[in-house]
Amino acid sequence: MSVETDPAKIMKQQVGVAAAARVQSGSIVGLGTGSTTAYAIQALGDRLKSGDLKDIKGVPTSFQAIVLARRYGIPLVTLDEIDHIDVAIDGADEVDPHKNLIKGGGAAHTQEKIVDSLANQFIVVVDSGKLVEHLGSTFLLPVEVIPMAVTPVMRAIVKLGGKPELRMGIKKAGPVVTDQGNLVIDVKFDRIDNPADLEKTLNNIPGVLENGLFVGVTDLVLVGEIKDGQPSI
Ligand code: 5RP
Repeated sequence: MSVETDPAKIMKQQVGVAAAARVQSGSIVGLGTGSTTAYAIQALGDRLKSGDLKDIKGVPTSFQAIVLARRYGIPLVTLDEIDHIDVAIDGADEVDPHKNLIKGGGAAHTQEKIVDSLANQFIVVVDSGKLVEHLGSTFLLPVEVIPMAVTPVMRAIVKLGGKPELRMGIKKAGPVVTDQGNLVIDVKFDRIDNPADLEKTLNNIPGVLENGLFVGVTDLVLVGEIKDGQPSI
């Protein structure tokens, strides 16, 4: 395991390691995306290497997860090769008191929702800054859109009361492109009162592939925090 000195990174590492510790030998494991999940993937690799964990298979949620799984020696399978996922570990951008989430800060929410929803147990790994009373209060809601439909989808979102903006990449040189070759619209809603309804309404707009609301999917949230300068879970 890498040695971190920044308390924020140590905290992410601690929740990642704690989630990985819950995985049992022989499991099929959904591998999420993001900086917190990256520590969980690394910890799974460490457990495999030490012999503490045997015979797991990973189901990646992104190109990033594929790269990390290969780096840490986790064998990968596709959804066509398996009939269940035992446990998925993934990060989130916001978590409400009902364990509903906003995800997609890494533009990976479409594959994440497929894999995380299929898991018998879905474990979310976050720091305490991600906990909110109402979804949408700190983070824009990501919506993955087929490129030719960006303009009509944005108009439809405005009619729903959202403020959409196309997600741009580094130095705003061009839009962010997802692993599926699509674009991401980030939407500000003043308040998301009914995430279950909004999730369905957005996905019904022609051209939308998937949005970042995860409702009723999470089983367990592991929260890292910094108390008196010390990271803890
Ligand atoms: C990627 C995601 C990530 O899980 C989410 O953005 C959290 O990432 P991090 O752990 O780096 O804060 O949804 O699409």
